[in-house]
Amino acid sequence: MVRVQLTGAKETMLATLWGRALDSRSAQPILGDSAADEALGRLDYDFGKLMKPSMALSVALRAKSIDAWARAALEAQPGATVLHLGCGLDTRVFRLDPPPETRWFDVDFPEIAELRHQLWPELDERPGYRMIASSVTELGWLDEVPADRPVVVVAEGLTMYLRETEIEALIRRIVERFPSGEFVFDLFSKLGIKAQKLNPVVRKSGSTLYWGLDDSRELERYGLELVDEHNATQFASEEDLPKVGVVPRLQLKALRWFPAVNRMGRIVRCRF
Ligand SMILES: C[S@@+](CC[C@H](N)C(=O)[O-])C[C@H]1O[C@@H](n2cnc3c(N)ncnc32)[C@H](O)[C@@H]1O
Repeated sequence: MVRVQLTGAKETMLATLWGRALDSRSAQPILGDSAADEALGRLDYDFGKLMKPSMALSVALRAKSIDAWARAALEAQPGATVLHLGCGLDTRVFRLDPPPETRWFDVDFPEIAELRHQLWPELDERPGYRMIASSVTELGWLDEVPADRPVVVVAEGLTMYLRETEIEALIRRIVERFPSGEFVFDLFSKLGIKAQKLNPVVRKSGSTLYWGLDDSRELERYGLELVDEHNATQFASEEDLPKVGVVPRLQLKALRWFPAVNRMGRIVRCRF
């Protein structure tokens, strides 16, 4: 068993891992990430601490939506370099399973990199794969990434933990460094940031959320062109809606009546 002792933003990745693992155990999984469940079985951690099992659905829907756009971005730019920022213990590289010529960089703090190494030592041998153990805001890590190809930047559950100045510096540096590329990430509105204490994962991990954006077109200030955007109610595809169960389906539909709440958590696809 691998012992886990984390606090703050670093601990929150255990909640999302748990969400994906619980989804994979359901009769009709949304994401079906069995590798998440296998990893969970090897971690010595009280998973019920941060969130309720009912939140697994939203975690799986968000991950599936981001996977779909990341896959589309990779198909549009075969051989691109992937930067998967704030990767936590996400098994996205297994789910997307890019060909060996794709360079894939998972980036997160050194403690998370060490955990990933203990859980998946085989990743060290995977052609094209590399883990970078660094805060994404200490921009020197980007010097380790060759900049000769287009880039696909994927970040899930990360941007809200960063400050506006950090987000701006990070996006600008990537846009300056690579010839072209796409960004796929989720973000919170300012209301989502204000309401952070209602989020049990944030409260119980003792973390703080900083960055929120109401109008995603403002990303243009950082050099990104907005291509598409999903509100929370759009995370579930037509194919998945029947699987989510009657009550969550009604909750999702009801969200449409409250646009400000519907927009609290969104996924954006941008290019430069
Ligand atoms: C909610 S978790 C999401 C993890 C993963 N993306 C997922 O969906 O399971 C937030 C993640 O962001 C990472 N994180 C927060 N601030 C970071 C920073 N400055 N640099 C690198 N990673 C960061 C945390 O360590 C954690 O793994």
